Amino acid sequence: MAKAKTVFFCKECGYESSKWLGQCPGCKSWDVFVEEPIVKRSSSGLGKRELKEPELLSSVKSETESRISSGISELDRVLGGGIVPGSLVLVGGDPGIGKSTLLLQTCREIVNKAIKVLYITGEESKGQIKMRADRLGAFSGELLLLCETNLDLIEDVVNKHKPEIVVIDSIQTMYKEDISSAPGSVGQVREATGALMRMAKSTGITIFIIGHVTKEGMVAGPRVLEHMVDTVLYFEGDNYASYRVLRAVKNRFGSTNEIGVFEMQGSGLVEVKNPSEYMLNGRPEGEPGSVVSASIEGTRPILVEVQALISHTNFNMPRRTAAGTDYNRVNLLMAVLEKRLGIQLGDCDAYVNVAGGMRVTEPALDLAIVTAILSSFRNITIGSKTIMFGEVGLTGEIRAVNMADQRVVEAAKMGFETCILPQANKGKLKTPEGIKLVGVKNIGEVLQYIKENR
Ligand code: TYD
Ligand code: MG
Repeated sequence: MAKAKTVFFCKECGYESSKWLGQCPGCKSWDVFVEEPIVKRSSSGLGKRELKEPELLSSVKSETESRISSGISELDRVLGGGIVPGSLVLVGGDPGIGKSTLLLQTCREIVNKAIKVLYITGEESKGQIKMRADRLGAFSGELLLLCETNLDLIEDVVNKHKPEIVVIDSIQTMYKEDISSAPGSVGQVREATGALMRMAKSTGITIFIIGHVTKEGMVAGPRVLEHMVDTVLYFEGDNYASYRVLRAVKNRFGSTNEIGVFEMQGSGLVEVKNPSEYMLNGRPEGEPGSVVSASIEGTRPILVEVQALISHTNFNMPRRTAAGTDYNRVNLLMAVLEKRLGIQLGDCDAYVNVAGGMRVTEPALDLAIVTAILSSFRNITIGSKTIMFGEVGLTGEIRAVNMADQRVVEAAKMGFETCILPQANKGKLKTPEGIKLVGVKNIGEVLQYIKENR
């Protein structure tokens, strides 16, 4: 018998190669190639090709978007205003983060509007889903439930029952019969997603696909799927914090970087309508090293607290950590402080933390990081009604940031009375009521200001 032919796939990006490679030429990651048997395509269907004529763009009717609201406004926002019929949405995230819970809750809201929804699970039994549904509260509509992992059978069920929305939990458990590799392997995941895509596009059914992201263990990360689906949402959160952030990283029907904030409670996920309030909860007042800043997530301003602790080190190598922000950026900002203000941080341990578990890497946080470090180092408290944002350049200059007006408005809304911001931004702003704007040009001016207003 002839030896079965195999090919090698990169499990990160799906790059295909006839032999094993140490490094993927596509995505440059190491040790990511897995062996898969070659998929035989049936030759039936060939020869039946029809000639298709290209159409003029001007004569193509634009599709009117009739979105279905998911009933969860944070999810609608991330999707760009609701569910687009016929779209393929991937919801990725670590195991246990709450993907099944989020989609079951979405199903509940949608069936309440008398829309037919089919929830297909390959991971849990019907009894387990029922238990989770009971935790979430009453369903007033009827949800169709199916425990199945064979995609060919699933297609038959979908064709028979014609739901408007289908949830696949999870893509790693699904398989197509004509492919010999195991469920969860790159080949299966690719083919299964391809089949689901054809189903969505030909029938106009919206399909939500749940995909696990694990660094190790899972053969195929959903990275392979990202190219194929319309929308990619990532559900992320801190293992120690109860809040969860839903983030769009790809969206053919809306803007990306929009986020939705949820909190995991005993009875499911609860929307957090005012993330700023949530993030600033429990903030210490009148303590050195704590500074509030305004960051932008998508189109939404969120206020976060930056904390710094600078203490004398007992070792040759000072320790530096940055939680919730970019480590290299913090080191750079400390170098700027040393050089421009002559502050000796070389023999100090420095710990910088964005409180609340949120991860913010935008440069607008620079000013708050610098000020928090200064505040902890010099033991100066920053007024609890003071907020600041701005990018710090290498010469210590404070550079303008985008969407300054939204940040200032959010700060005023949350009751802050002073806002320190780049001078270049200040000139173009209308001052909202109740907040004083202080424009600064360099970190020297910031130090001067906080010394005078301690
Ligand atoms: P789950 O949706 O099963 O995660 P995933 O599908 O992403 O793997 O939810 C996992 C966690 O959420 C689980 O550890 C229990 C917790 N949870 C709650 O805290 N409250 C709830 O109401 C529910 C349903 C789950
Ligand atoms: Mg699950």
